[in-house]
Amino acid sequence: MNSIIRHPIPVIAIDGPSASGKGTVADLVAQRLGFHCLDSGALYRLTALAASMKGVALDDETGLARLALNLDVEFTAGCVSLMGQVVDEAIRSEVIGVGASRVAQYGEVRKALLARQRTFRQAPGLVADGRDMGSVVFPDACLKIYLTASVDVRAERRYKQLMEKGIHVILHNLLDELRERDLRDATRQLAPLIQQADAVLLDTSQMTIAEAVEFVLVHYEKVRVRE
Ligand code: DC
Repeated sequence: MNSIIRHPIPVIAIDGPSASGKGTVADLVAQRLGFHCLDSGALYRLTALAASMKGVALDDETGLARLALNLDVEFTAGCVSLMGQVVDEAIRSEVIGVGASRVAQYGEVRKALLARQRTFRQAPGLVADGRDMGSVVFPDACLKIYLTASVDVRAERRYKQLMEKGIHVILHNLLDELRERDLRDATRQLAPLIQQADAVLLDTSQMTIAEAVEFVLVHYEKVRVRE
């Protein structure tokens, strides 16, 4: 029996780099456990999209933070709306992904999104994915996973995904963009993407999605038994 008093609503934090598949794994784990799911990257993407819709510059920290704080967003069964418009496709574009990585560098923006992220912690539990779920947003998460894959594997997976959607891209360019984003996300001053000491490493380079989901579930079961 652990003597630490835990928050009554468990959180599984899954952090990792872009295109690692953490979102897919988080969704499937949440489905298996009947938990809620937070895709925190979507909030940074929505902030970048709102900035482009409202003409706020990506280096205007105060303007971006104001947008982030007042995001008029609605999450309903697999669908995201911003200011009443369905934006699932728009926030997944590479341009918005790069914009999200830029706005995410600002402390005021991160602060503005913090409380909103924590509202997703609802019974019976939450699976949250991002970069700082285990370090900043839910430091008391009962299970922290650092989910990664080699940059080549991630670029190939993203390439296949985009091609299947009929979006033509050059693999080499994707690889360069991923490397650039990895570097920005890992070297920024605030909440950089790094594996925390208390996070379990899950390298999916040679794994299927189903195997990665099982890995998380097995570790969650171990934590539950211990508590
Ligand atoms: O997970 P994603 O690719 O949708 O995230 C988009 C960007 O948002 C990513 O480049 C970094 C940023 N981000 C962040 O800084 N912190 C998070 N918790 C989630 C995403």
